[in-house]
Formats: sequence, C-alpha cells, structure tokens
Amino acid sequence: MPPRYLYIYTIGCQMNVYDSEHMAMALAPLGYLPALSPGDADLVIVNTCSVRSKAEQKAFSILGRLGEAKRLRPGLIVAVAGCVAQQEGARILARAPHVDLVFGTRAVHRLADLVRQVESGHRPVVDLEMADGPEAVEAPPAPAEQGRVSRFVTIMRGCDNFCAYCVVPHVRGRETSRPPELILGEIAALVAAGAREVTLLGQNVNSYGAKEGLCSFPELLERVNAIEGLARIRFTTSHPKDLTEGLIRSFARLEKLCPHIHLPVQSGSNRVLARMNRRYTRDHYLDNVSKLRNSCPGIAITSDMIVGFPGETQADFEATLELVREVQFDGLFAFTYSDRPHAPSTRFPEKVPARDQSERLQTLLDLQHGITFARNRALTGSVQEVLAEGFSKQQASRDRPERAQVQWTGRSPGNKVVNFDGGAGTAGDREVRAGQLVSVRIERALAHSLWGALDYGRGSAATGGGTCCVRSTSPA
Ligand code: SAH
Ligand code: SF4
Ligand code: F3S
Repeated sequence: MPPRYLYIYTIGCQMNVYDSEHMAMALAPLGYLPALSPGDADLVIVNTCSVRSKAEQKAFSILGRLGEAKRLRPGLIVAVAGCVAQQEGARILARAPHVDLVFGTRAVHRLADLVRQVESGHRPVVDLEMADGPEAVEAPPAPAEQGRVSRFVTIMRGCDNFCAYCVVPHVRGRETSRPPELILGEIAALVAAGAREVTLLGQNVNSYGAKEGLCSFPELLERVNAIEGLARIRFTTSHPKDLTEGLIRSFARLEKLCPHIHLPVQSGSNRVLARMNRRYTRDHYLDNVSKLRNSCPGIAITSDMIVGFPGETQADFEATLELVREVQFDGLFAFTYSDRPHAPSTRFPEKVPARDQSERLQTLLDLQHGITFARNRALTGSVQEVLAEGFSKQQASRDRPERAQVQWTGRSPGNKVVNFDGGAGTAGDREVRAGQLVSVRIERALAHSLWGALDYGRGSAATGGGTCCVRSTSPA
C-alpha cells in the first residue's frame, strides 16, 4: 500500500485533541501517515468546536482555504469532524461543497469505514449517528506513540446538565461513562508507551459512573493512582454543584493526584447563575473553595467565566469581579457570551451590547492578570517539582542571553508552566530527559509562566519515578 498522508486541524477542547489522536489511529490501518502540513496531505480532517461562534467561524475559514487547495489538487479528501459537524451535518455542504465527509462526535470509531467509502467514489458521506450503548462510544485502543509524556484520556462523553448557554449537550449527546477496565487498560498502555501524566476528561467528572452504576469518580482515581509507572493524575472538568467530599479528600489521599482543580464558576451573581441553570449559588461555590483549600492547602484553583450573559447588569458584573477578588484564582479563562444554536439563552431577551461585553471582558482580564502575576510572584524562591515535557519554544534574545542554553519546559503540580535550563553543560551527567520529575528553583515569575533552574539542594534534581503530592512541594 503506497503511503498516504493525513493532516488534522484540531480546534476546541482537550476532548477534541483526544478524538483527533484516535482518528489518526483509526486511519493508520488504511496506510495514512501524519503529514507535516496540510499542503502535503491526501486527507485533511477539520476537527471542529462549536462552543462559541468564533470557534465555528474558524472552522469555516479553514474549510474555505481547503476549497482553494482542492481546486489545485482535486484528489484531496476534505473531512469535517467534531461539534460543528454534529451540529450542522449536511448543511455544511451548502457552505463548503468541496467537503467529502462529515462525521459527528460519536462516529470516530467508524472513521476507517467512512474514509473507505469516500475513497471508492462515494461522496459526500455523512455520519451523524449518536446512538447510545457501549459499542457506539468505544474508541480503538490507545496509540503506542513513544515519547509523549502527558496524555489525555476521555472517561466520559456527552453532558446532561443543559446549562442555558451551552451547545455541548446538543452536539456531544447524553452523558455516557466508559467502563473503568477500559480506562485503566488505556492508561496502562499509554504508560508503557512513555506517558508519565494523564488528564482524565469529562464534562462533569463528578458524576462519573453514576448513570451506569460503575464505580464513583474518587474510586476511579484511586485505581488510576495504583497504576505503576504513572507519576501524575489530573482531571477536568468538575461541576461545582456535584463536587463531593470524597473528591475533595482525594487530593489529600492520593499521592499522584496533582493539587489543581479547574472549577468553572461562570458568574459571581446568583441571579445570573440561576438564569444560566448552573444549579449552585455563589455561596455554595465559595464554600467549595474553602473546603478544597482546607483539605489541600496550596491547591491551585482555576475557573471559567462568561461575561455579558443576557440580562447581566453592571451590578451582576460587579458581583463577578468581587468573587474573583475573593477567590484569587490561579488562572481564569474568560469569554464574552455568545448565542449558540439549540441553547435556550439564545432566545433570552436583554442581550448585552457587544461593546459592553468587550469592556467587561477587558476589566475582568485586567483584574485577573494582576492576581495571576501576584500568585506567580509568590512562588519565586520556592522549589517546584516539574515534569519535564520537552524543549521550550522560547528563544535566546539580547536581553535574555541565558535562553541560549537548552531550555526545557514542564509544569508544576499546580499546573503552572515552568521553563528551565536543563541541557548538557547545565546539568552535566545528570542531563534532563523528557518524562523525568525534576526539582526546579523558581527564579523569576512572568505573567503566564515561571522561570527557574534545576535545584540540586536536596541531592539530585531529578527525582525519576517520584510522585506529585501537595504535601511534598511548595504551595503551587
Ligand atoms: N463542562 C464544562 C465546560 C465546557 S465548555 C463545565 O461545565 O464547566 C468550556 C467553557 O466555555 C465553559 O465553561 C464556558 O465558560 C464557556 N462557554 C460555553 N458556552 C458558551 C457560550 N455560549 N458563550 C460563551 N462562553 C461559553
Ligand atoms: Fe456545557 Fe454545562 Fe455541560 Fe459544561 S456542564 S458542558 S457548561 S452544559
Ligand atoms: Fe468545543 Fe465541542 Fe469541546 S463544542 S469545547 S470541542 S465539546
């Protein structure tokens, strides 16, 4: 079989990153190898996101460019996957008639078959089947790709929460948990292929297994914690309404579980939270934060926030700012509200004008910028355990000549990006390798990352197969 080349554009969240990896795996038996650029590819897949209108526009702009490419190379196969594919289906063909294949969020395991149909002359092929049942959601086994230190593993698909603004339940279907045996087997295979850290993915991991009567999420974490060779566990996302005492305790109990939680709050106003159908109050959220910090001192807390939700007043927005000042998040992803197909809030009156939305977003980002920077500065002088992932993208510059040395990048237990010198010459015979846990003394805090040097103060800087535990590191 002559080699053929595949390029995948991945837009959106970690679930799409995971799905893209599985698409590449599903197509390997057909002879598809990864292409370095779309120009070298015989098949291009655009794995799309629909969470905000900007993400959807990005997908259509890539498709526009692929239309040009296909005029020059008519043999090129163009496929659309992911959340916009599920949402729009065959309507995509009206806007992008050069598309050969549209497949939805639960069709990844049928991809090889769908591509074979296109290759044998059928087009367009559209597969939006979302039927429930384990056989419909199971992915092929994990890729045996060597050398990738940190990997994503989807543990649940879909969502049953129906927040008023959100497209996800409509494009990812009902919440479905994968059986623990499959998850544990997949993680063990990833570890055998070089992974040291996994991030477990679900829209609301707190409700893992509840519908199917599988084990609870803390029980799953405990079983993942027992996997030999794995150094770190992370997860996302946790819904504040379902955060359990058991999960809070897991941070103190499980030595591999990193002291970081992404706990999206969305707004600091009870009125807005109710209209968003989030089903918790500001006080409940703040209570969660105190419990987490009591049980796991130094835990890093990050969040998502939507500004300019329909009906959000200046007073509601002030309540959001107040909450941000009170919690002092380690990081915040903030977005202006965007109308989405199927989302009830699209029909809500009192839309906030775009100018006010942008102003509020800027005010919030400025506030958080100061907080993130201050929290990063507070880590200066501390020693952080960092999982070395690879070389940093940063280049040497005239005012930062130290960057001429080999610079490594990794993350602290609290998920802060840490860049550090680690090449031959700085570490000598104790040269850093990807996948190693190393001790790094933080020398400088930047707005979005930390900069440091290997710390030999406590013996070797490389702790090899060590663990990541809040009790063994400085506050992160
Ligand atoms: N399941 C996760 C969120 C997944 S979507 C949770 O419940 O926390 C990721 C983020 O996108 C959300 O947390 C929200 O902040 C943002 N988002 C979702 N829909 C949006 C919309 N219509 N407009 C703006 N931001 C949105
Ligand atoms: Fe969307 Fe809410 Fe589900 Fe998160 S919990 S995916 S915000 S509906
Ligand atoms: Fe986007 Fe779909 Fe993820 S809408 S955020 S890619 S679940």
